[in-house]
Amino acid sequence: MITASEARSGTEPAAVGLRVERRTDPIGIDEPRPRLSWRVHLEKPAIRQAAAAVQVATDPSFRRDAITWSGAVIGPETATAYDGPSLASRDQRFWRIQLTDDRGRTSRWSESASWEMGLLDPSDWVARWIGWIDPARASWSARSPLLRRAFRLDQTAVRARAYVSALGFVELHVNGTPLGDDRMAPGWTDYRQRIQYQSFDVANLLRIGENVLGARLGRGWFAGEIAAFGAEQYGDVPALLVQLEVALADGRRVVVASDPSWRAHPGPLVSDDLLMGESIDARDEPSGWLEPGDLGGGWQPTVVRAGPGGRLVAQRDPGVRIAAELEPRSITAAGPGRVLIDLGQNIAGHLRVRASEPAGTTITVRHAEVLDDAGELYVANLRSARQTDTYTFRGGGEEIVEPRFTSHGFRYAEVSGLSGGLEPSQVTARAVSSMGPEIGSFACSDELVNAIHRNVVWGLRGGLVGLPTDCPQRDERLGWTADAAAFAPSALFLGDTAALFERWLVDLADAQLPSGAYPDVAPQIGVTGSGNAGWADVGILLPPMVYRETGDRRVLERQYESMRRFLAFLEADQVGGVRHGGRYGDWLALEGATSLELIGTAYLAHSARTFAGVARLLGRTGDAARVDRLATRATSAFRRRFLTAAGSLVHETQTGYALALAFGLVPRAVRQAAADRLAATIETAGGHLLTGFLGTTVVLDVLSDHGHHELAARLVRQDTYPSWGFQARHGATTIWERWDGWTPEHGFADPGMNSFNHAAFGTVAGWLHERLAGLAPGTPGYATMLVRPRPPAGIDWARAAHESAHGRHAVEWRVDGRHLEISVDVPPNTFAQVAVPDDSRNVRVDGRRRPAARRVVVGWGHHVVEVER
Ligand code: BGC
Repeated sequence: MITASEARSGTEPAAVGLRVERRTDPIGIDEPRPRLSWRVHLEKPAIRQAAAAVQVATDPSFRRDAITWSGAVIGPETATAYDGPSLASRDQRFWRIQLTDDRGRTSRWSESASWEMGLLDPSDWVARWIGWIDPARASWSARSPLLRRAFRLDQTAVRARAYVSALGFVELHVNGTPLGDDRMAPGWTDYRQRIQYQSFDVANLLRIGENVLGARLGRGWFAGEIAAFGAEQYGDVPALLVQLEVALADGRRVVVASDPSWRAHPGPLVSDDLLMGESIDARDEPSGWLEPGDLGGGWQPTVVRAGPGGRLVAQRDPGVRIAAELEPRSITAAGPGRVLIDLGQNIAGHLRVRASEPAGTTITVRHAEVLDDAGELYVANLRSARQTDTYTFRGGGEEIVEPRFTSHGFRYAEVSGLSGGLEPSQVTARAVSSMGPEIGSFACSDELVNAIHRNVVWGLRGGLVGLPTDCPQRDERLGWTADAAAFAPSALFLGDTAALFERWLVDLADAQLPSGAYPDVAPQIGVTGSGNAGWADVGILLPPMVYRETGDRRVLERQYESMRRFLAFLEADQVGGVRHGGRYGDWLALEGATSLELIGTAYLAHSARTFAGVARLLGRTGDAARVDRLATRATSAFRRRFLTAAGSLVHETQTGYALALAFGLVPRAVRQAAADRLAATIETAGGHLLTGFLGTTVVLDVLSDHGHHELAARLVRQDTYPSWGFQARHGATTIWERWDGWTPEHGFADPGMNSFNHAAFGTVAGWLHERLAGLAPGTPGYATMLVRPRPPAGIDWARAAHESAHGRHAVEWRVDGRHLEISVDVPPNTFAQVAVPDDSRNVRVDGRRRPAARRVVVGWGHHVVEVER
């Protein structure tokens, strides 16, 4: 992807794609020392940046008196933290980069970029939380209100910012234009600890004369149902916080903030709930309320609410967006006024229907992931989540039927109450997701494997809605820790999700117990447990995953104290290196239970080792040494207790072997023997995995890394039960929660625990990217990439691509008999290390012979490596 400014930069080096906190010209950030990063455009024969100069100024002229900070980077690093004078609320800064390549050529200054600080201090906020209390009923089914405020400007606005937050969901309009395209703003945090706000540049939307701010509120996570724990977990009615700050041409400043002068109206949202669905009565939308002019009747006072206590923080992740629009695959008549829609794809999202009906006609839209034997919606597995929308027509022409503040997990929808049928052209499905722009891709010669990969992508889209969740359909949709740990590597490869995980790690730290244990879900809610092996450990395992993707250590620094507290919990939770695994074990495994103590002890060793690595990287050598001792104690305990001298497990399970090998717990001398036993247990199961959440996450990599790559590939291509291919062959368009979600013999599994869109088992994608196509970061952030294609029998070609901070990395390989050709795209300023298969001969790089090379290093550009095997 080359941007206009990249194309422009002709024949000299240039810094392009300038970003602040990984966003382009952000406003309203609250990072005191923002990270500035750029991409490098070079001309051959230069291959790297040798140095970069940074200038930060108060205006884009960059005149000497405007410059507030000059920095320098020596070497190829393309990011630096702003280290100038401290920044105040609303400060705007412009910055640019001049780079020198390794041939000594210096670029012109880049085009300038900018950032702007948000409201950093609680005293910056004059706005109050306002809401509306339905005099009739203040229970959960009370209507969510419309809130409105008109004001006059007598001059042009030269600058205007709206800072917006809500307890619940908000959609704010300025003179009828909605701000942003985030569907569930401002996201779910523990509102008692922190509440996110968003910042918008609204100067272009204001006019001289009367202006109107109009907000729709929804109950969202604040007041709506959460999982099976009921509604009103944080508060009873949604509330709004808005602060509009306008600078006029003559220098005056006008502030319009939420306060009791706003007016409220019950509005068309009869009820709204993330799990239950939304009921709209379009007749109740007051006409023209978003535009200047006289208000009709029915407007009532607003009330000032006390906030729940959380600190206001700038939203840093991109939020929930419409990720895709789908046309229905089919619409069939299912009875009078009733149709059944099949999208051909299980999604998280909703329908958008264009229809006309007489005033007062109500249609009902129900949603389900699968159909039952009679061809009707199967809703038992949704548990208490009703996922039902209704819409009552205003009448008099075509209307858009689309819910705003809810989301459903579904492939099928039933629309009833219509006076006629529905044409496909009237229906669009909108899939929502927090996955951001998709930055990774994969394909290979086996269509079944491609279908599995597509299922993972759709699983991640649906699993990442506002936060990393377990599933998008039933009354759950929680930030389950083990699920996030399982799918984070694939999610980071495939979507622009680093900021989402960084934010969720803060939620996780917010939820940490005084003991240091992490709860099972974050934000913490209801009566879930804590400290469970494989679940709580996400607090240690996830920060390095994010660092591996971004190369930005701050995620490690920010989480460090929280991680340390968890290690203190682990220290207290073990006896002689043995940790009881807690509650879940290898969740949803088909094999006999892997002992909880085996799992607990394995994760104790792994988390301790991982933390020690982080501590060492951050120079905390004392912590590293202490925790290394804990890891050693756990490793010895594991060996004594669970392994025989020959490298077998005392009680053999696939997951037991997978964890032991993945976490380095098997002595080197018997490692291969243990891997061979793992392979044998898989063969005994007819070439099938019987692993649950924990084992499945690591087992394929373990096989490939211990001499059983062909078996790993067979498992991925397997299409009999249980396997990913079995699901795909039986019509799955997402990854199922359990291997036995549906079987020909038993039909649907226990509806109490049977989601058909559950990203956790989707870890197969990580293997496809890194072990099959062979594209992985060689160093955190992809300053070098590791290319290690491993063609197994039956797959002739594979490719993967990933957009890192440096640009596009791509690998494609093809086998033809004994000839293997590997194409590699390496972005400027980076290298690729290509590891050719062990049995390679006659290695050629870009047509030139490289004698006996096992690892070939190539710089930026397109390269072709050919080998005979
Ligand atoms: C969730 C999981 C989660 C598990 C914990 C389930 O209800 O959907 O994915 O990790 O509980 O055992």
